[in-house]
Amino acid sequence: MPLWDGRFDGGPGREMQLFSESLGVDLSLFEEDIAGSIAHCTMLGEVGLITEEEASALRGGLMAVREELRQGLYEPDVSLEDVHMAVESRLTELLGDVGGKLHTARSRNDQVATDVRLWLKPRLAGLDEGLARLVGVLLDRVTADGRTLMPGFTHLQHGQPIWLGHHLLAHAWMLSRDRERLAGAAARVDLCPLGAGAMAGTPHPIDRHRTAELLGFSGLVENAMDAVAARDHLQEVVSVCAICMTHLSRMAEELVLWSSPAFGLVRLSDAFTTGSSIMPQKRNPDAAELVRGKAGRVYGDLVALLTMVKGLPLAYNRDLQEDKEPLLDALGTTRASVSIMGSMWESLTVERERYVEELAGDFLLATELADYLVGKGVPFREAHQVSGRLVRWCEERNVDFAALTLKVLSEHHPAFGEDALLWLDPAAAAERRRSMGGTAWEEVERQVRTLRETISSGK
Ligand code: ARG
Repeated sequence: MPLWDGRFDGGPGREMQLFSESLGVDLSLFEEDIAGSIAHCTMLGEVGLITEEEASALRGGLMAVREELRQGLYEPDVSLEDVHMAVESRLTELLGDVGGKLHTARSRNDQVATDVRLWLKPRLAGLDEGLARLVGVLLDRVTADGRTLMPGFTHLQHGQPIWLGHHLLAHAWMLSRDRERLAGAAARVDLCPLGAGAMAGTPHPIDRHRTAELLGFSGLVENAMDAVAARDHLQEVVSVCAICMTHLSRMAEELVLWSSPAFGLVRLSDAFTTGSSIMPQKRNPDAAELVRGKAGRVYGDLVALLTMVKGLPLAYNRDLQEDKEPLLDALGTTRASVSIMGSMWESLTVERERYVEELAGDFLLATELADYLVGKGVPFREAHQVSGRLVRWCEERNVDFAALTLKVLSEHHPAFGEDALLWLDPAAAAERRRSMGGTAWEEVERQVRTLRETISSGK
């Protein structure tokens, strides 16, 4: 029989038990549940709500249950509903009546809220560690291969010549903002709801600050109703995961494109590609594709969490039991995706020769000609027109900018001088972009230093 059967004639039917139990996912929380209970009974003993002997008996019993769960010796029956009742019922089997004192001045509502926050804290730190590693791997790659010229894309068409390092830094900045968002979410997770009771607090003289301190929280969720009903901290964590997965999926998409024979800009290591069961030539970028696909899954987790709380009257409703699967799934998926992305970037080869080929025979330097004229006092709009006409001139003759001579340039605009031809060099074009955050190599190096500091300072 469940622990709450006082007013019932019979327990819930089997169908209801199976529908309502959450032991499957809850058992991933047993360490946190027992840690919460140990802190709770210590506090109860300190304030005199139970005797010190009772507190120490309860602590011993809880440790024994923890050991049984760790070793798989205790497999709670589904009739016990959740991890909280599974632990308490086994505790009472082991200790007798004193086990019943553990639940003084608390409820499963504040208990589950505490468990999830405790569970999250080290995992958020783990995700941050993974992100810091990924940012570090990208920065290492900038240092190793970043001084490779490539076409910067807009609309997936060649735009302007940039250093590969400039492109990689854009990803690194996005990921470092994910770390900032994560730190914000982690600060709001790090508050203790225990002692809220069902929603109204308790008539007993508990010390909520002490429990929070024993559990290593940095503060309290003050309002008892907020403490048991709020799930915005979980929505926030999963939003951070969803945004991060968006970033990873963009990187993943580029790896799929760049590693395809059509682009050939990178070669993924064998460790992260798979073969085709029918086409022997294939080296499929499955890891990158899976990251891209898993982003959709994490968005689903976020929508589940937002929807289950939407319109929910205060305070606790059983709907909230459904929060754990999406939370666990989102964190696990994001953590694994961050990690494999780091490993892929660590082990791939940048095909530097291919980047150079990719630059040739294109009109990537059209903006340079316009900027040259701007330097001679021509309004940008007019300069843009002139440069466009030069692209057309080349296209009509099926040649590229290498065919341009001073004569041809001068026919298109009188402001062109001898030095204009020097502007038709992609490396010089990249290096001219020295404005703050531009692609010039000194700016790339400056940003590498800035981002490295965020890693070493643990920010
Ligand atoms: N298993 C429940 C959950 O995860 C614990 C809280 C149950 N509270 C209740 N009043 N039924 O949300």
